[in-house]
Amino acid sequence: MSPLLQVADVSVSYGKVEAVRSVSLEVREREIVTVIGANGAGKTTLLSAVMGILPLKGSVQFCGENIVRQDIEDRVADGLSLVPEHRELFATMTVEDNLELGAFRIAKSVAAQSQERVYGLFPRLKERRKQLAGTLSGGEQQMLAMGRALMGAPKLLMLDEPSLGLAPIIVADIFRIVTELRAAGVSVLLVEQNAKAALEIADRAYVMELGEFVLNGPAAEIAKNEAVAASYLGFSHG
Ligand SMILES: Nc1ncnc2c1ncn2[C@@H]1O[C@H](COP(=O)(O)OP(=O)(O)O)[C@@H](O)[C@H]1O
Ligand SMILES: [Mg+2]
Repeated sequence: MSPLLQVADVSVSYGKVEAVRSVSLEVREREIVTVIGANGAGKTTLLSAVMGILPLKGSVQFCGENIVRQDIEDRVADGLSLVPEHRELFATMTVEDNLELGAFRIAKSVAAQSQERVYGLFPRLKERRKQLAGTLSGGEQQMLAMGRALMGAPKLLMLDEPSLGLAPIIVADIFRIVTELRAAGVSVLLVEQNAKAALEIADRAYVMELGEFVLNGPAAEIAKNEAVAASYLGFSHG
């Protein structure tokens, strides 16, 4: 079976500066794939290009189809969804209304089902459905950003540093939900500086440095790699 997402030889530039260089990656059905790397490695740039927010060189296939020339809305309609690094919620709107914005092209009956599914995954959001998004805790805001992205029932959810700024216990909660998504048939491309947490739940991993992938393999093997342990996990196996 061909992979759900196939990124081949992709480069992304800001003017003359190439922030992502000849990167290739794939995500198969029911996989959590993580891209780990330090601040500035090019992770957000890569996700933005796959989503269609930034232009790229190279090829991106989604469900076997080249999507490079598609606009963002068509990519969303095909089942690709991005939870951006800064969550980009509407702070003065309620939880419920933020979720509704994630379903703007979806039939009302389907949106109602989606909302129930999202509330099933995130009971906290249901409790706080009438609360303004700006008054939520950081963890709840991340849940809401994920919930909004899930309203359209994506096949692939791309998460840009969901753990950023959150306490470890909240990160554990959010990552447990990511594994529930995989169990429910959603594939996940997870970009993280928090390599330890990401490698614990991922099936496969890519290590990104200065715009390039320097290593990839099963997450368990990447976690055991000496250089990765020293640079990203804060300890050495030696
Ligand atoms: N809008 C921009 N204009 C110019 N350079 C940028 C822009 N956004 C990011 N960069 C640069 O591209 C590189 C990769 O950034 P980014 O993709 O945000 O990395 P990461 O998400 O891994 O922290 C960095 O050197 C960063 O300074
Ligand atoms: Mg980033």
